[in-house]
Amino acid sequence: MKVLVVGNGGREHAIAWKLSQSPLIKALYCAKGNAGTSKIARNIPIEPTDIKTLADFAQREGIDFTVVGPEAPLCAGLVDEFERRGLRVFGPSQKASMLEGSKVFAKEFMQRHGIPTAEFHVFEDPQKARNFVKDFGVPVVIKADGLASGKGVVVCKSQEEAMQAIERLMVRKSLGEAGSRVVIEEYLEGEEASYIVLLNGDRYLPLPTSQDHKRLLDGDMGPNTGGMGAYSPNPFVDEDTEKAIREQIVERVIEGLKREGIYYRGFLYVGLMLTHRGPKVLEFNVRLGDPEAQPLLMRLRGDFLQTLLDFYEGKDISLDIDPRHTLCVVLASKGYPEKPEDGKEILGLEEVEKLEDIVLFHAGTEERNGKIYTRGGRVLNVCAWGRDLQEARERAYKAVEKIRFEGMHYRRDIGLRGIRSLTERKGF
Ligand code: AMP
Ligand code: GLY
Repeated sequence: MKVLVVGNGGREHAIAWKLSQSPLIKALYCAKGNAGTSKIARNIPIEPTDIKTLADFAQREGIDFTVVGPEAPLCAGLVDEFERRGLRVFGPSQKASMLEGSKVFAKEFMQRHGIPTAEFHVFEDPQKARNFVKDFGVPVVIKADGLASGKGVVVCKSQEEAMQAIERLMVRKSLGEAGSRVVIEEYLEGEEASYIVLLNGDRYLPLPTSQDHKRLLDGDMGPNTGGMGAYSPNPFVDEDTEKAIREQIVERVIEGLKREGIYYRGFLYVGLMLTHRGPKVLEFNVRLGDPEAQPLLMRLRGDFLQTLLDFYEGKDISLDIDPRHTLCVVLASKGYPEKPEDGKEILGLEEVEKLEDIVLFHAGTEERNGKIYTRGGRVLNVCAWGRDLQEARERAYKAVEKIRFEGMHYRRDIGLRGIRSLTERKGF
């Protein structure tokens, strides 16, 4: 089989890595990939959002199956175009991708279908937004309506921060049109969880649970990013919580989509806050999370390509989950997420590749004359398996120490809160 992976981040390297283990693979392509995917697939220099050129390539090359990593091509209608041409592709249509493409659509969808989420209001006029915040008080969360690579959400602890966020998003339009409409919502407290399912119509299958670390700095300080590290399983999602997530959220989404005549096939990511009043949705993504995909795919045993193909065809499938814990630390460039620096040589990779129980997924990397350089904000994902979270964490950080590039920074507390909660529960 000829398979195409669309995207060039750590998530796509992990998808390609997992697919490459399938005996069904005859050729694997990645558009446009990075220095990591080039080792296991053929990188194709086509931008993930250049839908027409990608579809032309898939037709010309006789691609049998395409898996889409990032949201931008999904929201731009990649799946619709591929399907129009009779090409098999795993991902939701443009219409279904609105669940991620518009925060306003997602919030109103949740409201229509009784899905628990933070209370919210929508604003197009900055003055009305300012007045609302003055009345409502802080803390409050301000979210750009459109796509912003995880950078369109500002958690405001003070009035001043809220006013600045409104100014930046709505007046100065720092994210372009994505910020001309905003959702302002109630601040929720609790532990976060990422819950990702494979969805095909009314059939769904959950992947293992995970937790992301969205803030840039240790202790959940600094601005939101695309994600600085993740691990699986998430100890905060116990059996009852998972049941609530399935019944009150996933199944209501499925029912809602059906009622609204929207067909959904692909990954559905539910970003959650586990509040003392139950799980509430922070956001939907119409794809695997990045970096969650990395530790998640490391826990899947068996032939992932066969699984996806069967699921795509509407067959019943099950997943064989590795009971070990996995953890991923993201190494980022200086300046990320605002203005990352590029072009720094990365050292120490070969040493890490030799380590047992470690996988290195590339994100913003490129190869030139046999050397690897940074190219983008999130550069590498150092991932480990362990018998428990503690062991996975220790292994991952030991490997991190071997890698160097100018300006490299990372969080040192990935998995720590999870470990603490486990030890507290054991009564230590
Ligand atoms: P989102 O892209 O909507 O998931 O938001 C990104 C991150 O901002 C989340 O993972 C949370 O850390 C934080 N966040 C978003 N909405 C809220 C909320 N209502 N209350 C508290 N934190 C939030
Ligand atoms: N890690 C969160 C996301 O992929 O949006």
